[in-house]
Amino acid sequence: MVVSLKNTLEEKTEILAEEKFKKGFPFPAESAIIVKNDRTCEGVGYLEKILITGGRPLRGEVNVAGAKNAVLAILSATILSKGLCRIDNIPNISDVSIMLHILHQLGADVRRVGKHTVEINTRYFNSGLVPHDLTKHIRASYYLLGALFGRFGHARVAMPGGCDLGVRPIDLHIRGFERLGASVSFEENAVISMQSDVISGSPIYLDMASVGATINIMLAAVRARGVTVIENAAKEPHVVDLANFLNSMGADVRGAGTDVVKIHGVLELHGCDYSIIPDQIEAGTYMIAAAATQGDVLVRGVIPKHMESISAKLIECGVTVEEHDDSIRVASSSRATRCKIKTMPHPGFPTDMQPQIAAMLTAASGTSIISEGIFDNRFRYAEQLVRMGAVIKVDGKVAVIEGVETLKGCAVRANDLRAGAAMIIAGLMARGTTEIEDVEYIDRGYEDIVGKLRALGAEISRKEVYDVVDPVSQIS
Ligand code: UD1
Repeated sequence: MVVSLKNTLEEKTEILAEEKFKKGFPFPAESAIIVKNDRTCEGVGYLEKILITGGRPLRGEVNVAGAKNAVLAILSATILSKGLCRIDNIPNISDVSIMLHILHQLGADVRRVGKHTVEINTRYFNSGLVPHDLTKHIRASYYLLGALFGRFGHARVAMPGGCDLGVRPIDLHIRGFERLGASVSFEENAVISMQSDVISGSPIYLDMASVGATINIMLAAVRARGVTVIENAAKEPHVVDLANFLNSMGADVRGAGTDVVKIHGVLELHGCDYSIIPDQIEAGTYMIAAAATQGDVLVRGVIPKHMESISAKLIECGVTVEEHDDSIRVASSSRATRCKIKTMPHPGFPTDMQPQIAAMLTAASGTSIISEGIFDNRFRYAEQLVRMGAVIKVDGKVAVIEGVETLKGCAVRANDLRAGAAMIIAGLMARGTTEIEDVEYIDRGYEDIVGKLRALGAEISRKEVYDVVDPVSQIS
């Protein structure tokens, strides 16, 4: 029985891989990730789990990869140029594979020229519909709206997918496009369509400092006629990285990193060579993992300035944090002490670090309070930590965490990308074995997290399992 299920799965996986190859999918290593995560085989599911036996302090050095949220915006921005863009420090994560796949499907010439280097030429590009089967996997596919509109003056893109963190409207993006002269309409099958004869620069005030809206408006405005001023712009490091990339292509974007971004439209953008900034959230995750396991880790290849809010909270929790030019050492020899955290836009404590620090605080001494200031529904992971013995009460956007002596390993799931990172940290701290399901969420944003943690001394591995999917449970 097991053999026949396995054969069915392998056959179907091969067919999927072959179909993707025929369509010209150019990245064999990455295509494997997409194929694995497609649970399309009737009656059979292919699952991967991460297994961790906790209790070992992390020790050693770890290198941080390029920033996920920067690279996704920058890959979209290549649509704006007709020249060759060579981009370095690209992280090997599934969100990047999917974005490269989307660009390739739309006509871009995409080549991997090194483990972390990609060359992209979008001279020939299809400006027609970007369908849901391309956009459904990643939130950042909404950047195709701004980039296609900026290049062609029109765009038709199906609504993006991404992690479920509560309602995630894109009204600010749409209003920004309208201010630049777009007429926007919503078609069947959740397709957003917009066009304009002339893109005209304009002052745009954002009601919230939205990262996505700031980036999308920048993409749409770089080739507009006249000047666009974004007030109350997001200041996140990836907004600055995108501005630097656009300027390397000949754009004129000033003020990124402050709350006023000014964009003088230019006629043409050219190709460039660029290197992505290090990932603030990946770096922060290893910093917290080091503190949570009472270890001693040098996190290399970071921009310490980007890490200040995270370093400050760790120091408040009694952890030693030493900043160097491009690395940070985090060491601890006792339980963290309790603290209060409110997530806020940059330079505040990032919402994308909230689940990871919550995991550490489950075993801190005393009671900690976390207030989520960005998303409506970012505590879904709390239930999983409670299964491991954590004491957490969630009331709306506030979680109260009573520190316990120790967590105990059990089967848990990654509800989303950062929730998955929190489960890994909890597993590293826990007594016994933790088995994490739905690891494809973790692959969206962490390059080789298992290999990196193993090199730091963790007892962690991936396990592939074939699972008979219950058709009834699939319906919900
Ligand atoms: C981006 C990041 C995500 C990070 C988040 C906050 C990417 C691909 N994702 O997400 O990892 O957690 O920033 O740092 O870079 N809002 C509106 N209307 C809009 C847009 C946003 O009401 O049109 C609200 C959202 O619901 C949310 C808040 O503004 O409450 C912030 O969202 P935003 O900064 O836009 O986050 P994302 O771009 O979705």
